[in-house]
Amino acid sequence: MHFLITAGPTREPLDPVRYLTNRSSGKMGYALAEAARDAGHEVTLISGPVFLPAPSGIVLVKVETAREMFEAVQKHIASADVAIFAAAVADYRPVVKAEQKIKKSAETLTLELERTEDILGSARGLFGFKGCLVGFAAETEKLVEHAQDKLVRKGCDLIIANDVSQPGIGFDSAENAITLCLPGGQTQTLPQQSKTALASELIQFITRLVSSS
Ligand code: CTP
Repeated sequence: MHFLITAGPTREPLDPVRYLTNRSSGKMGYALAEAARDAGHEVTLISGPVFLPAPSGIVLVKVETAREMFEAVQKHIASADVAIFAAAVADYRPVVKAEQKIKKSAETLTLELERTEDILGSARGLFGFKGCLVGFAAETEKLVEHAQDKLVRKGCDLIIANDVSQPGIGFDSAENAITLCLPGGQTQTLPQQSKTALASELIQFITRLVSSS
């Protein structure tokens, strides 16, 4: 099968030297890409800026902004059987990118932000993706409730939910603990372990999900 996987954060520029971003390390997405490759699948990895080596045997498409990630996914998704959206895409970007470095002047500065493209939310409608669609949900409360809502709203086959309020797992950590949320309200918990171990369990789970559908 062909897996398309997004990973890492995005960077939304404010001026030539500054940007808005988040703490995503890209480890979960890269671990998933490597696990899918090791299971014999073809993999396209669309990655925001990360400090991880480029995995061998994988097509790596590097992007910076949410808009670039949106365009890269739009270009590559048609040939995918499975799309896993592990990237922590910025939800907002500065309305204006200043041509020159913003100089300090007043005591306060207000930034105007606008919504970025919802890449996962475009998969079913705009991109017409018919394959297995997997999203992530990083939540600080009501984990399953929010994940189930996301699953329905975005037309996903699976949401991988993680509780980012717990220290030592999730964003920028080597380990993660996740709850899998399926249509119809079924859930399954994968306990805390390395992102590498979780990734191979997840690829097996997704492969079974595709072959049973
Ligand atoms: N995602 C995306 N494009 C965006 C934002 C998020 O593709 N612009 C994807 C992420 O890769 C992840 C999932 O959507 O798979 C995370 O969704 P989230 O941003 O939490 O979802 P929302 O429904 O926007 O909810 P929230 O209000 O919690 O932000």
